[in-house]
Amino acid sequence: MLQDVDVDVALLQRFDRPVPRYTSYPTAPEWGPLASEAYLDRLALLNQAPRPLSLYFHIPFCRTMCLFCGCSVLLNRKPENEERYVQYLLKEITLVSSHLRSDHTVPQLHFGGGTPTKLSMPQLETIMQTIGRSFHLTPDSELSIEIDPRTVCEDGGEKLRFLRQLGFNRVSFGVQDTDPRVQEAVRRRQTYAMTRRTYELARDIGFEGINIDLIYGLPLQTVASFHDTIEKVIEMRPDRIALFSYAKVPWLKEHQKAIADDTLPTTEEKFGIYVQARRQLTAAGYLGLGMDHFALCEDPLAQAFLAGQLHRNFQGYTLCLAEDMLGFGITSIGYCQNAYIQNCKELQSYYEALDANQLPVHRGKQLSEDDQLRRWVINKLMCQFEVDKHLFERLYGVPFGHYFGAEWPLVTQAVADQLLEDKDDKLVVTPTGRLFVRNVAAIFDRYLQCKAGQSGFSKGV
Ligand SMILES: C[S@@+](CC[C@H](N)C(=O)[O-])C[C@H]1O[C@@H](n2cnc3c(N)ncnc32)[C@H](O)[C@@H]1O
Ligand code: SF4
Repeated sequence: MLQDVDVDVALLQRFDRPVPRYTSYPTAPEWGPLASEAYLDRLALLNQAPRPLSLYFHIPFCRTMCLFCGCSVLLNRKPENEERYVQYLLKEITLVSSHLRSDHTVPQLHFGGGTPTKLSMPQLETIMQTIGRSFHLTPDSELSIEIDPRTVCEDGGEKLRFLRQLGFNRVSFGVQDTDPRVQEAVRRRQTYAMTRRTYELARDIGFEGINIDLIYGLPLQTVASFHDTIEKVIEMRPDRIALFSYAKVPWLKEHQKAIADDTLPTTEEKFGIYVQARRQLTAAGYLGLGMDHFALCEDPLAQAFLAGQLHRNFQGYTLCLAEDMLGFGITSIGYCQNAYIQNCKELQSYYEALDANQLPVHRGKQLSEDDQLRRWVINKLMCQFEVDKHLFERLYGVPFGHYFGAEWPLVTQAVADQLLEDKDDKLVVTPTGRLFVRNVAAIFDRYLQCKAGQSGFSKGV
């Protein structure tokens, strides 16, 4: 058995296989080419009624590459490249909004990356002004941004204050690990003093819902070293903590190959690091939400979890303020009227499409009825740790057990492994099952079950 969690090593090894993180269903490998006309069709459907919209803006630039990074990043040190990108982003915002009626509201907006704060203050201001002219933000809209503390800690808080003036009210800081040895091994040098100073500035300036990103499973991490990282983070007392499992995908991210395998914790050590971190966070008053997020009980995200209203998208767990989400910038992903839509991945094709006044989309997936209903089940498992069978039947008009007859042997196996409880009215993920909720969700993933084991995902533990 491992620590105080009722998991034996054999079970752990069985689950340490590639499995999606279910930030979407169907997952990205199942998507195909998509023409801009298909996106226009979705926008026309959206326009049948005024709706709340969530907006995502991708700023891909970083100054240096962290060796673990799995994000969509462009290394850049030439300001003119960033200026050109901003000009095209403005063009995209104007183009998309020209296809939309003006009475959709925007309760939620997020800047992600890469490193959005690598842009200058005038650039950020121009983008926000264009968004303000093109969309209907409300005074209580949630405006959030990902921040690398290394980009805002040297100006005495000027950029942070400026972001607040622009209307941003939530920030998420990338920290990952505070141990200098681990930082050296992943080439991300960020002293704890720097992180702490930035965090305190953000608090003083009045940001709410402050999040800190951490990663477990990085090179040279041990249970003891990560214990120290977690203690330091708890001392700051952020409202939210994202505790990501290191997603190792060197076939997609060449730079990860520079991390030698023998410096990584073993599966058992990695699991031990997670369990220890979870125990510390829980003892410090954080509530574990879904798979990899923690929040103080009074935080709205924790309240949404308790009320069964948590939502999962490409930014992880969020409040569900809008079902439809529009993505802007290269590689960004949206979800519009039951279709995933991803923008071009290369700058050149993104720029060429916009030069031709076309929506710069590249691929996506229109969900079938089966996809929609499985997406609902997977979301319930990932966000609420249970599926209400009666609600399923009311929504989709077919009994749960009947629809998932083919999956039932896997459900029965999960019950035998004590990951699931099969009650009359619901399927409930057990406390042990919560640690492997990706594997539990995978039972209902039709595409994965058809492929049985030949996926390109990172491992489940
Ligand atoms: C776009 S970055 C955050 C903003 C900023 N670039 C920074 O690093 O501070 C988003 C987050 O993704 C997480 N992340 C990146 N690569 C990852 C990987 N391979 N596995 C797990 N999490 C990863 C990190 O925690 C990172 O903070
Ligand atoms: S973790 Fe953040 S700063 Fe590091 S390379 Fe990825 S996006 Fe850039």
